[in-house]
Amino acid sequence: HGNTPNWGGTLNFDAIAPVPKTVDDVTVPEGYEWTPIIRWGDPLFADSSEFDLEHQTRASQEGQFGYNSDYLNVISDGGNDRTGYLVNNHEYTNENIMFSPEYIASNPEDVVDAGIAAHGLSVVDLERDGKGQPWRYVRGGRRNRRITGFTPFSVDGPAAGSDLLKTVEDPTGKLVLGTLNNCAGGTTPWGTVLSGEENFDQYFVGTAGNAEQERLGISPGVTQRGWERYHDRFNLNNAGYENEANRFGWIVEIDPEDPTSTPVKHTALGRFKHEAGTVHIAKSGHAVVYSGDDQRNDYVYKFVSAKKYRKGDKKNNMQLLSQGTLYVARFDGNSPASEIDGKATVPSDGAFDGTGEWIALVDGNESLVPGFTVEEVLVNTRLAADTMGATKMDRPEDVETNPVTGKVYIALTNNSQRAAGAIDEANPVPGNRDGHVIELIEDGNDHTSETFTWNILLLAGDPATSTTAYFSGFPADQVSPISCPDNLAFDSEGTLWISTDGQPGTLQYGDALHKVTLEGPERGRVQQFLAVPRDAETCGPVIHDRDNSVFVAVQHPGENGKWGAPTSYFPDFVPGGPLRGDKVAAPRPTVVQVWGGKPGNG
Ligand code: FEO
Ligand code: CA
Ligand code: CA
Ligand code: CA
Repeated sequence: HGNTPNWGGTLNFDAIAPVPKTVDDVTVPEGYEWTPIIRWGDPLFADSSEFDLEHQTRASQEGQFGYNSDYLNVISDGGNDRTGYLVNNHEYTNENIMFSPEYIASNPEDVVDAGIAAHGLSVVDLERDGKGQPWRYVRGGRRNRRITGFTPFSVDGPAAGSDLLKTVEDPTGKLVLGTLNNCAGGTTPWGTVLSGEENFDQYFVGTAGNAEQERLGISPGVTQRGWERYHDRFNLNNAGYENEANRFGWIVEIDPEDPTSTPVKHTALGRFKHEAGTVHIAKSGHAVVYSGDDQRNDYVYKFVSAKKYRKGDKKNNMQLLSQGTLYVARFDGNSPASEIDGKATVPSDGAFDGTGEWIALVDGNESLVPGFTVEEVLVNTRLAADTMGATKMDRPEDVETNPVTGKVYIALTNNSQRAAGAIDEANPVPGNRDGHVIELIEDGNDHTSETFTWNILLLAGDPATSTTAYFSGFPADQVSPISCPDNLAFDSEGTLWISTDGQPGTLQYGDALHKVTLEGPERGRVQQFLAVPRDAETCGPVIHDRDNSVFVAVQHPGENGKWGAPTSYFPDFVPGGPLRGDKVAAPRPTVVQVWGGKPGNG
């Protein structure tokens, strides 16, 4: 760094034009190249089965990279440009493009178990020839691991061992099989990975008339995947399994350095549809975890650890998320309601902004919610937060702290149910199609603070057609169209990068990765860096600007197709792109690296 910050980041590129949603390719800026690192089904271990699309089973899948890649990090080993590893979540499965109708009919139990095993996470060793060169994955790498819907997890925190978590298979309430619907996540300063269990409701057959289940969307009736046909625990009406769904919806922590370690579900961070969990160490040394609950009209949460981070003391640090204070956010606007008119014209004070409060729900082992025990707050966190005046948000996705400025960014992806009569200054767009991004500044830049200020960085949309798009005053005719912000990342200069999930439905453009300048005269400038193939969502993203590299997880390519009639052949049949051997007639979720760039980078 020189004395003058490079608020635009160090990755040099000219924004690409938005890409029509029918394009089945990865589109990158001029001067950049892209290649896959690892695809669904690639073998991870020496003895893994080769990918065989027609005969996938639990055993084959447990040895292979999982499906539908979401959270991603790519980490080079300290001081070494040639070795490293990646961690990637596998959010969900789409059996109708993973398996042929004949195989589903003749091998239904194999399909169920392969599906459970295709969920979870992968840890994969990487190698390359040197800085600036593309990575390759290492089959048989020492860290390689699959965590699946079958992997044993321990449970810690104030609700561990609670009656609310006990089942006939686990009378301790402290041992859960599997993690499901892992969406975004974060790498901790102590080297572990946090992952959010998001839309876990879809795996369970619910019980009629159960308010706790209804608040999470768990409903009676067979599930789409039908796992309950072979595994009793997925039907909450089965005796002894009434609490099985209470064992999902947590932040989980995984130590990628130790493939034999038992991953942990942290009850202290509450149970809801965790998009992610991202850690920032406060000036005081406490670990602060931000997390969004991705549902229309749900909340933003924060956890502050009781103990303090100690650099280099992994044993201490791996206990930080076991005990602390759990908060939910209330956002108060500072402009008169009459100026929040639903047209998204900026209020007369110049911004959609205001103050806010973190409302404590739990402090250590004590409930601060009247009528709820600490275990009830942590297991039924939405119901507890409902009683405390939290602000209903437009689907909170990733929440990340800028490592350079300490400001916190909240992606709100959209909210079709935001009624015109229920807008507020923090959620000012009726029927919010395109979503927005809030910038939150903790008072005193102290991340343990119970009060904050906030403002809206951008209201997404295509300025050519939107009447509400707003980019902190940056000229709207000079930005890339953007819709449905989901994952957030920062480059080495603290420039924000936003990946999208849903642009094909709102802008008719493929989902994208954008750079957004946050500070200086170009604040609010959005520049599109890439687009993903047909029907895919952009996940990850990881920005190694000083290595001229960007990594994304291409999730659910070809999602709207079906077996034998795919809408995407990514990545093996990309028209005009690299052909990579073992051709398959199905799209494969894939981790992609983009590298190169214009002269003068880095
Ligand atoms: Fe899995 Fe909220 O995106
Ligand atoms: Ca205001
Ligand atoms: Ca997401
Ligand atoms: Ca999403």
